[in-house]
Amino acid sequence: MKKLFKITFFITSLLILNSCKNEYLSKKQNYDFPKGFLWGTSTAAYQIEGNITNDWSTNGLDAGIASNGFKLYKQDVERMKYLGNNSYRFSVEWANIEPEKGKHNIEAINYYKSLLRELKKNNIKPMVTLHHFTNPVWVAKNGGWENPQTIDDFNDFVKFTVNQLKDEVELWITINEPNVYAFKAYDAGEFPPYKKERETAIKVMGHLLKAHAKSYRIIHQIDPNAKVSFANHIALLEPLNKLNPVDHIMVYFQNKVFNLSYWDSILTGEINIDIPGINGFKEKYNSELKNSLDFVAVNYYTRWFVNSSGEQITGLNADKNDLGWEIYPDGLLQSLKISDKYAKKLNIPIYVTENGIDDTSDIKRSKYIVNHVHSVWKSIDQGINVKSYMYWSLMDNFEWAEKYKPKFGLYTIDREIRKSALTYKNICENNSISSDLFDK
Ligand code: GCO
Repeated sequence: MKKLFKITFFITSLLILNSCKNEYLSKKQNYDFPKGFLWGTSTAAYQIEGNITNDWSTNGLDAGIASNGFKLYKQDVERMKYLGNNSYRFSVEWANIEPEKGKHNIEAINYYKSLLRELKKNNIKPMVTLHHFTNPVWVAKNGGWENPQTIDDFNDFVKFTVNQLKDEVELWITINEPNVYAFKAYDAGEFPPYKKERETAIKVMGHLLKAHAKSYRIIHQIDPNAKVSFANHIALLEPLNKLNPVDHIMVYFQNKVFNLSYWDSILTGEINIDIPGINGFKEKYNSELKNSLDFVAVNYYTRWFVNSSGEQITGLNADKNDLGWEIYPDGLLQSLKISDKYAKKLNIPIYVTENGIDDTSDIKRSKYIVNHVHSVWKSIDQGINVKSYMYWSLMDNFEWAEKYKPKFGLYTIDREIRKSALTYKNICENNSISSDLFDK
């Protein structure tokens, strides 16, 4: 008996020691990323450049000087280099390039060519977004994205712009967050033209998707080596009350339309965006649309709990950013697993093209970045082919309907560096999350 007790005690002690060792090692482990992984930041023209006249500035939400990015771009590229970034995602402003239908402003194109030259000089790979929520005034006057004519007008702009910039750009985003734009502008009434018509929002989703498909084909005709996607905003959704079937039904339909409808349509070539009770947007097989994706682009910020009325609310007692969005790093891993179902079917990689925190005090940003980048590391460790992490954003900028109150930047709008930027710099320069960053 005594002998048995000694053996049991010995084995138990070994097991406890081993788990402590693993715990210690996991805390002391560095999390290395694959060679060539892209680290950068994301911005958008209207939010940073300044002095843009478009359908926002002439309709209640004038960004004014914004972050003065147009004038400070050389210094901003220096800041990207200081951060150890090897990529940068930015958008071009349609309203600046084509202020009148068919008339192109070569000055605007030359600005983007200069920016691309600066990026190339500093070995920073660009990713260029062609539509990021804003339109020329003439497009808005012509009915904006409710009017199918805008699909062709946008693609004429794409053809001109891609021809001008193609020599320095491989990675293209056709449309940024078509789901967010359609619902904020046509259902929630928060973005111009401030409509509250769910049916119209769905129609706009359909037109933006067709514009993406056409743009994809046009870009590939101009440059067969281009890599083209659209940036999908994944709102991770869960039922507020797991025991209430209505909450689950709400999650199902919101997820199907908001998060997955574009990827599903691109997989099948057919468009089927519909919510029960309202006219959806359906179109039969479209060869332009089928497989019109060279990479999956994911913008992730937070998780929402959906109640029986379909409202999306933040979890009770959740750790939040200053906008009240839950800080939920595991949600990025879950979002990448969802994205990976499509990436694997199309045999294409995934790029995280936006992730960031509104944190004026900069108390939470370091931990936010470390934990979300760690989620990316876990996804790669589980066999998901993620190629980039782009933090939103390089500097504080015009946050749409919230204007200048939110502070997402690694730098303030006056370009003072925030302490959390040094955490991101450490990760980018080492292509790894060193263990001590978890203790900060
Ligand atoms: C978006 C936009 C950005 C926002 C960022 C913070 O994804 O909504 O691309 O323009 O500023 O997401 O909300």
